[in-house]
Amino acid sequence: MKLAPSLLSADFSRLLEEAQSVAAGASRLHWDVMDGHFVPNLTFGPPVVNALRRVVDLPFEIHLMIDRPAEYAPQFRVRPDDTVIFHVEADDTPERALAAIRETGARAGVSLRPGTELETIFPLLDRVSLVLVMSVEPGFGGQAFLPASLERIRRLSREIAGRPIEIAVDGGIHAGTVRDVVRAGADVIVAGSAIFSAQDRASAMRALQEAAR
Ligand code: DX5
Ligand code: ZN
Repeated sequence: MKLAPSLLSADFSRLLEEAQSVAAGASRLHWDVMDGHFVPNLTFGPPVVNALRRVVDLPFEIHLMIDRPAEYAPQFRVRPDDTVIFHVEADDTPERALAAIRETGARAGVSLRPGTELETIFPLLDRVSLVLVMSVEPGFGGQAFLPASLERIRRLSREIAGRPIEIAVDGGIHAGTVRDVVRAGADVIVAGSAIFSAQDRASAMRALQEAAR
């Protein structure tokens, strides 16, 4: 199981040290970009993510919870092993968002809110490297995992049917929920509060890996 710690729950005054504190156990770093329109919260955007991109070695997973993703994706200075994820609800023409993401040179991902029909993203599957299933309503860290997400992960896994598309799951994942999520078919686990609210990040990440077994 790949772990993607979400910096949303980190100390923003020490982003570099926070990123370094998870480097040993993480497969990638998850960035929650919010615009105050698509979700009722504001975080950071390209200037902050790009600044950290220059000094952190882990792959980045950039979760765009913003309107007009096609307009902003080109502003991210990313690497080929990074992933830029847009929300299917944020653009009437997902093709446009996908094209803009591909232009950055990064891998493309698509995400969807818990209330969005899973089938909405099926036509995009052959053009993405990752699907991010939201298991809470996007916008804030520390919310409770929505159990209906498990059946969505299983259905998505069946639909993917062995194609090289990662399933990432985001929201409410901790030692008590991670096992069911992985058993349902998740390849990548996003966790914010479960990792960054702990003093010892390495042991919090180990606890997640152990609980998943
Ligand atoms: C929510 C974000 C998540 C969030 C998860 O909109 O997409 O990445 O940080 O936080 P936890 O793990 O605390 O539920
Ligand atoms: Zn996220």
